[in-house]
Amino acid sequence: LLQKQMLDKVEFVTLLNSFTKEISQYLYEVAREVSKKHFGNKIYSRGLIEFTNYCKNDCYYCGIRRSNSKVERYRLNYEDIMNCCRNGYALGFRTFVLQGGEDLNYTDEDIVNIVSSIKKLYPDCAVTLSIGEKSYESYLKYFQNGADRYLLRHETSNEFHYGKLHPKELTISNRKRCLLDLKKIGYQVGTGIMVGSPYQTVENIVEDLLFMKELNPQMIGIGPYIPHHDTPFSDEKTGSLDLTLFLIGILRLMFPNALIPATTSLGTVDPNGREKGILAGANVVMPNLSPVNVRKKYELYDNKICTGEEAAECKECLSNRMKKIGYEIVVDRGDFVQK
Ligand code: SAM
Ligand code: FES
Repeated sequence: LLQKQMLDKVEFVTLLNSFTKEISQYLYEVAREVSKKHFGNKIYSRGLIEFTNYCKNDCYYCGIRRSNSKVERYRLNYEDIMNCCRNGYALGFRTFVLQGGEDLNYTDEDIVNIVSSIKKLYPDCAVTLSIGEKSYESYLKYFQNGADRYLLRHETSNEFHYGKLHPKELTISNRKRCLLDLKKIGYQVGTGIMVGSPYQTVENIVEDLLFMKELNPQMIGIGPYIPHHDTPFSDEKTGSLDLTLFLIGILRLMFPNALIPATTSLGTVDPNGREKGILAGANVVMPNLSPVNVRKKYELYDNKICTGEEAAECKECLSNRMKKIGYEIVVDRGDFVQK
């Protein structure tokens, strides 16, 4: 792995089934070296705007699935979103991530209008969309109007496992079609999985690693699966912190210059989860920029962190945490750079 940046299926399965504390420590050291070589001690930040918790889908793991009638639903309008960006720009963010459930109340024209306004007001910023599965034409429209990046986790590349996590109308083939369309159009594309999602096997994870190698995404987001009490998976187990960190280390070796966030779910399963993620090879953090009064409503899983603080506090808190472990959050778009 250290030399080839890749293993075959059997080797990966063996490694994931048998890694020890010593092996992980060694992997993290090497992964950190690789990150240092490409990014120094710089950490990129993205301002996350969770603009709607309405969703037409019904993923079994997700707290904002349409069947969860207990969620208080909200939508941010154009002004709300622009306010978040104004705030965020002043705090030093140069990437805004617009994430939401699949909410057809926002038409393509609405999305285009929001993206192009952000780009006009803040020409030195990148806009990332994370609004789920759309047609090639829709993706193309957003891109032509200024969207730079797109996050769409594949969740699992195994068809059988995909079917365990999603109702029939959602298919892995459409998910993959979306990812290929996004790449073809020219987006910087992010994908990833939940570690320890129900029914996931070690073989599934290895298939995901091989799938990602083939797709070659610019961004990779992984975090532990965490149950939400009002979903069909409420009694399932939380994913493993150690396995998530180990996979971050492996991904750093496989994708030396990729943008890999230390995710909110990592920070939720361990109070120092995000620091541990950085020290295992991650190089991005995504503080919350959404208005405080909606944060608790974007509850994908139980006990999600950072739902009580102002954007400024969130940014400040993460900056301090990064400083304590020797890293610095920089004012930068943090684009993927081909080496
Ligand atoms: N609707 C868009 C999509 O599907 O890509 C973006 C929002 S979706 C809520 C963002 C991500 O949250 C999903 O890709 C999934 O991996 C993650 N997620 C959802 N429920 C989760 C849970 N219970 N634990 C951990 N992560 C979860
Ligand atoms: Fe909204 Fe899965 S529940 S995309």
